[in-house]
Amino acid sequence: MGLDGGAGDGDSAAIRAVGVRKVYGTRDAQVEALRGISIDVEGGERVALLGKSGSGKSTLLNLLGGLDRPSAGELRVGGRDLHGLSGRQMARFRSTTVGIIFQSFNLIASRTALENVELPMVFAGRSPRDRRAAARTALESVGLGARMNHRPDQLSGGESQRVAIARALVNRPRVVLADEPTGNLDSQTARQVMALILDHVREHDATLVLVTHDEDLAASCTDRVVRLADGLVAAEGI
Ligand SMILES: Nc1ncnc2c1ncn2[C@@H]1O[C@H](COP(=O)(O)OP(=O)(O)O)[C@@H](O)[C@H]1O
Ligand SMILES: [Mg+2]
Repeated sequence: MGLDGGAGDGDSAAIRAVGVRKVYGTRDAQVEALRGISIDVEGGERVALLGKSGSGKSTLLNLLGGLDRPSAGELRVGGRDLHGLSGRQMARFRSTTVGIIFQSFNLIASRTALENVELPMVFAGRSPRDRRAAARTALESVGLGARMNHRPDQLSGGESQRVAIARALVNRPRVVLADEPTGNLDSQTARQVMALILDHVREHDATLVLVTHDEDLAASCTDRVVRLADGLVAAEGI
């Protein structure tokens, strides 16, 4: 099987993890955050990742998003085998194939909303003029047309998360990874933010992995639940 075969090679999984392990720390103080995770997520599927604090949800999401590398195991995301990608290829993967949304927004504090949204397009190699136009459109589509030149400290939590969503989705990623994206928001704002994410997923037939503590959110927004416990997959289904 070609490692980089995309659609058409008979493998419809958007995400395939096989025996993924992640060990943090030094020899004397090791934490085995993931102890052999295997999951398949089909293209267009929406999966919730549930589990207690410390069960390894963020660790797994960071590996799927190419923010970190596994200690062992295989990872294939959006048609890319992540093993062996160079740092540069990984940066490109992060800014084009996946869109990552964090609980704490992770915007660059010194940059305006517009500049934050432009950033993934810099890595994707788009021209400055094209970047600016696409960032404007993306911010307008999340209802922030009037906030483009504001910096994160001039935005509310909900506005910040909408900027982060525009940034994550501006390159139309096939795989959207969201780590408790509504965890810092009030319930009404949380609904608006989830709707933006789900609209994108539906419109682009993207794959979603949503980390959440919220069983109701998982049931209402996703097709399937994967539970993690102590670095392992505990049970599947709802
Ligand atoms: N950078 C790190 N260095 C050392 N240990 C870590 C690091 N990140 C996470 N861990 C540990 O790995 C385990 C899983 O953490 P995490 O993936 O953040 O869980 P969750 O997102 O489910 O709360 C925890 O025991 C945590 O303390
Ligand atoms: Mg976490």
